Amino acid sequence: MAYTELKDKWFNHYQSAEKQLKKMTEVKGLISAFNANIDAVIKVSGKQIEKIIADQAMNANQLLTNGEKSINTNEDAIRGLIKCFKGGIAEEWLIEDVEVFNWLNKTIGYDNLQMGGQGGIVANAMAVCGVDPVYVHTASSPKEQSKLFLDVPNLLNANRYGDLAKANTIDRTIDTPLIHWIIEFDKGDKLSVNGTELTCPKANRFIATYDPLNFMLAIDEAFDKKMCDPSTKFEHIILSGYQMLKTDLPDGKTGVERIEASKKIIDGWRKNNPEHILHFEIASTQDTIIRKYLVDHLAKDVDSLGFNERELIDMLEVIGEEELANACDKETHSSNLFKGMLKIFDYVNCPRMQLHMFGLYVTLQKKGFKVSPLQNRKGMQLAANIAATKAGTGSINSNDILLWSKDQKVSDIGLKELEGFANTVTEIFGKNSILEEGIFENNEIEIIAVPTIIIDNPITLVGMGDTISSISLVGAR
Ligand code: GLC
Repeated sequence: MAYTELKDKWFNHYQSAEKQLKKMTEVKGLISAFNANIDAVIKVSGKQIEKIIADQAMNANQLLTNGEKSINTNEDAIRGLIKCFKGGIAEEWLIEDVEVFNWLNKTIGYDNLQMGGQGGIVANAMAVCGVDPVYVHTASSPKEQSKLFLDVPNLLNANRYGDLAKANTIDRTIDTPLIHWIIEFDKGDKLSVNGTELTCPKANRFIATYDPLNFMLAIDEAFDKKMCDPSTKFEHIILSGYQMLKTDLPDGKTGVERIEASKKIIDGWRKNNPEHILHFEIASTQDTIIRKYLVDHLAKDVDSLGFNERELIDMLEVIGEEELANACDKETHSSNLFKGMLKIFDYVNCPRMQLHMFGLYVTLQKKGFKVSPLQNRKGMQLAANIAATKAGTGSINSNDILLWSKDQKVSDIGLKELEGFANTVTEIFGKNSILEEGIFENNEIEIIAVPTIIIDNPITLVGMGDTISSISLVGAR
């Protein structure tokens, strides 16, 4: 098939978006847990970073080293930022010391505050798509954070009296604000450190996080109680927030204990509505002991698992597939990543998993999973449309803007990834029509792949993965 024909073919597939979006209003309830926080977003230029380094008389040599991925000093924060700027990559480092948090507040500031954390972002995305009701968990709900939830009647949280109320009105006054810095930079921007000139290859972000409650996966009892109440109905549970855990926690507990405690809580919710789909977004988990434990003890229990290319490589590393992890790291394209996905699929034996990478989404599931391949493809296309809208307009805060990107065609990068992917599927499983239809099935598995729309100069990228994973799944009907 000629290239332009192929593009048109995909454009036609994408025409289901409007119908799919309407179907999301039929979803009867969804829980998004556990992490919500305030994102303080700021765009910085190379010049501004140079100024901070000069003003603070930082030792420039230290800033170019490859040390630990955590923030104990002011230099560490700038070191992480430079690393991401230089590689055009996204990383999140945790701030261990409140003094560094105060310093960032003074030195970097922010352009705007927005809802953050996978749990918070998914909740807003589901609510704007019309899922009714969406129950969102928060470890902390001061007014400044609550008002970042959409002002809609179908988004609920537990208030300080233990009742469900509109999430955006909740004021648990004594709660601590949990703030994460999202420091974004542009492609092509330049930064000179110690005589070394760096050019940023891809727009991306560095996240510096200070969040004592979500660091411990703190869970609100009132919310838990409500989710166990037989009058609370839901079809999906979307889990996230485990990635901030560390092996040892400041209060003497361990990360593993917190994971186990959360599992008991979730079991209560699951019993309440047995006919649900439980999705887990693994996110970027730095602590390898926690990561391994999550793969072995949580990913194995869920119905659906979501990750990006980096998170997939991270999982490979802890299941004894270092060689493949290295290959994926060196050449991060869909063919290598798919081989990695197959390994994870065998290892965790979870019925459905989805990779979202630049230009392509891939779902791999067991034959007969309750969401069909075609439903998956339609959900993934809707997710790609809404993700492009978010990148292109900067926000998805109202339902009528969600399909802003619907007249755009899928990207060349996406089609190229899809082509490589289809060849790999052919090598492993034989002839298929993935390139044209995005679907392959045999007696054991179903594979769905969708090339995406890419926005050249995105206004924002933060929370993209969470938006994609949740809409792909919940919009697959
Ligand atoms: C991480 C960050 C949070 C951000 C989210 C987006 O959870 O800590 O600040 O909103 O990622 O996915």
